[in-house]
Amino acid sequence: MSATNPVRKEDVKGFWEREACGERYGEDQDRIRYELEPEILRFAGFESAAGKRVLEIGVGMGADFLRWVRAGAVATGVDLTERAVELTTARLASERLTADVQVADAEKLPFPDGSFDIVYSWGVLHHTPNPAQALAEAQRVLAPGGELRMMLYHRRSWVAVAAWVRFCLLRGRPGGGLRAGVAHVESPGTQAFTPDEVRRMLPALDELSVEPTLTRWDHRVAPVVSSVLGRRFGWFLLIHGTRRPPNVQ
Ligand SMILES: C[S@@+](CC[C@H](N)C(=O)[O-])C[C@H]1O[C@@H](n2cnc3c(N)ncnc32)[C@H](O)[C@@H]1O
Repeated sequence: MSATNPVRKEDVKGFWEREACGERYGEDQDRIRYELEPEILRFAGFESAAGKRVLEIGVGMGADFLRWVRAGAVATGVDLTERAVELTTARLASERLTADVQVADAEKLPFPDGSFDIVYSWGVLHHTPNPAQALAEAQRVLAPGGELRMMLYHRRSWVAVAAWVRFCLLRGRPGGGLRAGVAHVESPGTQAFTPDEVRRMLPALDELSVEPTLTRWDHRVAPVVSSVLGRRFGWFLLIHGTRRPPNVQ
């Protein structure tokens, strides 16, 4: 539990221990993942990682993590759950690959300052009770000049509006707005942010871009209007920035 979010970390962990993200797709998870979220392949830049020290925070089933390893990265993966670590380790083993995958909390990463050239995380840190602390940790472990590549949910989006209608308005509890709706998306207490909120949590990064992106879920809940109004109300915030040396303000 954090000062700003009443959700307990053990409840988040319990949710993802029951079923990892995408596990319901079974053998087809890898194919379906990139069909549903083609943004990942455009954004992550797996092929750029050869020889680089990559940390992935929140590996889930490990589909992206395997791509870092296959690309030749010196890859480390963490997740809050044993389930994710076991699934990812088994996938590595099935391809006779090895990499460091371990249970760890994004809010307290077990790595020294400046350990990684790339810190990557897709759809993870909006689930942890204290995302600001997790983002501080992601910046801390980046080496000067290293890159953060991350996706977080966007509050001013069509998907957040749909969540509010479904979980708040239709249940007769419209108070709390979009924050209250998003709190029901996936694990309990999920948060979503504006680009300015994200920028304020990433003070150690230069060349920071935080770009809303329309997803298939935005198109599904707001089929015409989402296309007409463009990407600014998209559900994903694609975040990219470079770690400045710690002594430069
Ligand atoms: C929606 S899944 C995303 C997994 C994977 N990145 C993907 O895109 O499929 C969220 C993941 O975040 C992990 N997670 C949530 N809070 C975390 C924390 N504090 N530290 C590390 N992992 C966390 C969960 O265990 C879960 O595997």
